[in-house]
Amino acid sequence: MTADAIRINEVGLRDGLQSQPRHLTLDERRRMANSLLETGLRQLEVGSFVSPKAVPQMAGTDELIASLTLPANVQLSALIPNMKGYELARAAGIQTVAVVVSATETMNQKNINMSLEQTLAVAREIILRGRAEGVRVQAYLAVAFECPFEGPTPRARVLDQAAQLAAWGAHEVVIADTIGAADPAAVRKLTEALVAGHGSELIACHFHDTRAMGLANVFAAIESGVSRFDSSVGGLGGCPFAPGAKGNVATEDVVMLCEQMGFSTGVDMRALLRSVEVVSELIGSPQGGRAHYWLSNSAA
Ligand code: COA
Ligand code: ZN
Repeated sequence: MTADAIRINEVGLRDGLQSQPRHLTLDERRRMANSLLETGLRQLEVGSFVSPKAVPQMAGTDELIASLTLPANVQLSALIPNMKGYELARAAGIQTVAVVVSATETMNQKNINMSLEQTLAVAREIILRGRAEGVRVQAYLAVAFECPFEGPTPRARVLDQAAQLAAWGAHEVVIADTIGAADPAAVRKLTEALVAGHGSELIACHFHDTRAMGLANVFAAIESGVSRFDSSVGGLGGCPFAPGAKGNVATEDVVMLCEQMGFSTGVDMRALLRSVEVVSELIGSPQGGRAHYWLSNSAA
C-alpha cells in the first residue's frame, strides 16, 4: 500500500550548503530560502545549530530564520547535535528539530565527537524533552547502509536503533544513506521491515546520489510504503565529515519521478527550476539533478 502524496523535506539549505567550499553569506542563504519558499515545498531544513567552528557554513542560522517571512503552511526544521543545539533552535523559534545519530561508532566520533552510546543517550533526552514541550523530533540514523570508516552497516543494527528511537517517541525516524552507498534491493529490505514494524508515517528516507542510485532508491522505498523523503534543490549536498559523500538526490528529480508516477508533491516545477538557477548563481557553478536538461527544456 502506498500513499497518493509524497512529502518532500528540502534539505539544500543545510545538507546542501554545509559542505560548500564557498560559504554563503546570510543574504545569499536568505535569497536561496526565499526562492525555495516560492516552490510550494512545505518543509525546509533551514540550517543547523552546531558549533560554528565545526561547520562555519551554518553560522547565523538563527538570524536567517528571523529574516524569513513564511507562508502559513510551511514548516522549518533545523539539525541539532546536542541539547545546546536544541535550546538554540527553540530560542530561534524552531518547532521541528532533526537530531542525528550515526549507526556506527566511528561516524559518531568523527561527526560530533561523541560515542554511539553517548549519542543515543542525548537523542533520547532530546526526544523526551521534545515530546514534553510539543516539539517535533525527527531522529536521523546516518550511515544506515554503509559507513565510510566501518564499511557496510548491519541491517539488524539499524532496525534495533530505529526501534529504540521509535520507542522513546521520535515523531519520525529518518534512514540516511549519508555517503550514497545504498542500492534499491538493500533499501527495499530495510524499508519493508521498518514500515511493517512502525507504519509508514514514522519512516522517512534521505538518499545521496553518489552512485547514481538515488532515484532508484527513492522508488524502492516508495514501493515499500515510504512517503517521506529528503532531497536537495539542484542535488546540492554532502557531509564534511563523511569522505566520499556527494550531493543529495535532487529535489527536481524526486518531484519528476513522483508526479510522473501519479503521486502529488505540491511542488511547482517551474518555480523549483528557478530556485536551481538561483542556487547555481550563488554557488558559482551550474547545479541540477539528472533530469535537469530535459526538465529545463520541457517545463520552461
Ligand atoms: N551549537 C553551537 N555551538 C555549540 C553547540 C551547538 N549545538 N554545541 C557545542 N557548541 C560549542 C561549545 O559551546 C564550545 O564553544 P567554545 O569553544 O566557544 O567554548 C564548542 O562548541 C565546543 O563544544 P564541546 O562541547 O567541547 O564540543 P566538541 O568540540 O566536542 O564538538 C559538537 C561537538 C557536536 C559541538 C561539534 O562536533 C559539532 O557541532 N558538530 C556538528 C557536526 C555536523 O553538523 N555534521 C553535519 C551534519 S550530520
Ligand atoms: Zn545527507
